[in-house]
Amino acid sequence: MRTILVTGGAGFIGSNFIPFFLENNENYFIVNYDLLTYAGNENNLSEIATNKRYKFVQGDIRNRELLEFLFSNYDIKGVIHFAAESHVDNSIHSPEAFFKTNIIGTYTLLDVAKSYWMNSPFEYKKGYEFCRFHHISTDEVYGTLGDVGLFTEQTPYAPNSPYSASKASSDLVARSYFHTYGLNVVTTNCSNNYGPKQHSEKLIPKIIKNALSLSEIPIYGTGNNIRDWLYVMDHCRGIDLVYHDGLPGETYNIGGKNERNNLYIAHLICSILDDLVPNRSNSSIQSYKELIKFVPDRPGHDKRYAIDATKITSQLGWKAIEDFESGIIKTVEWYIENEKI
Ligand SMILES: NC(=O)c1ccc[n+]([C@@H]2O[C@H](COP(=O)([O-])OP(=O)(O)OC[C@H]3O[C@@H](n4cnc5c(N)ncnc54)[C@H](O)[C@@H]3O)[C@@H](O)[C@H]2O)c1
Repeated sequence: MRTILVTGGAGFIGSNFIPFFLENNENYFIVNYDLLTYAGNENNLSEIATNKRYKFVQGDIRNRELLEFLFSNYDIKGVIHFAAESHVDNSIHSPEAFFKTNIIGTYTLLDVAKSYWMNSPFEYKKGYEFCRFHHISTDEVYGTLGDVGLFTEQTPYAPNSPYSASKASSDLVARSYFHTYGLNVVTTNCSNNYGPKQHSEKLIPKIIKNALSLSEIPIYGTGNNIRDWLYVMDHCRGIDLVYHDGLPGETYNIGGKNERNNLYIAHLICSILDDLVPNRSNSSIQSYKELIKFVPDRPGHDKRYAIDATKITSQLGWKAIEDFESGIIKTVEWYIENEKI
């Protein structure tokens, strides 16, 4: 049995990832280390609460002492690092937490792993040779695209928000631990995820929840910003593949070639809800679409993101299973079933 530390596992992607990973990898024990900020919710993991290969520990990735204790107490032999402040809007009005958690936290975690696994630069301790640090990052580090083009792993970093700047910085810290110390680091940069368990501050859950409560559905600007949407379980499969088969020091972009703009997404979700929950729209509105309201644009709002996933596809055989139109139906159905969450 190998024990790994997953950080931020009570958040959106981590809480989809951990049950999936435990089911697909029977020889692993997971310690989920999460501060439970407003974005984390232990109930997201209720399906594995009694799993004997799972342990939850509440703590901050900046807490070196607690991390050192956990590494030695559980003999941690791998890290998959999700924990972050992740909402761009919050980073605009309160950037400090982003730089503290995403940069200092990532540095602390890398440094504790290095000290526990290695004797000196490029020399792993006996029995720890295969210990790996997987850093989870975003395509937002590449900045924004015009109408054409795709982000590849060679695209220069050009982050535009405090969130993406903090993630770009953390990617570079991770990179430096590979090049300077020989720590076995892999990084994945993924496009926008959607699916069950996402916090309602994010676009897709917000559209669904506001529609279901007959509240206004705010859409920035004219709704023409484009993201390359990936169903969260496709991301989880990509992380599992890269964690096991990716090459040390490499970065892999993950994206499903599903570019959609925000207005299209809002209209599609409203149409699905009109079919699935028509009774709520019989008060003053005929369709949930009537709740859509354009609001002033986010400052510095990136126009378009789109991923070239050729590397992970050709080298590791990854491919998205869901397209946006299939994944969004599953997602809407989950939010209807779990409306009170
Ligand atoms: N959501 C996306 O579309 C997306 C896309 C690409 C990459 N990512 C990256 O994936 C990772 C997870 O994203 P998410 O959407 O699940 O985020 P999330 O905000 O839903 O979850 C983040 C989790 O980290 C925890 N956390 C925050 N600060 C912490 C700290 N100091 N110490 C320990 N735990 C802390 C929170 O409690 C929460 O459970 C992030 O690194 C994010 O940058 C997200």
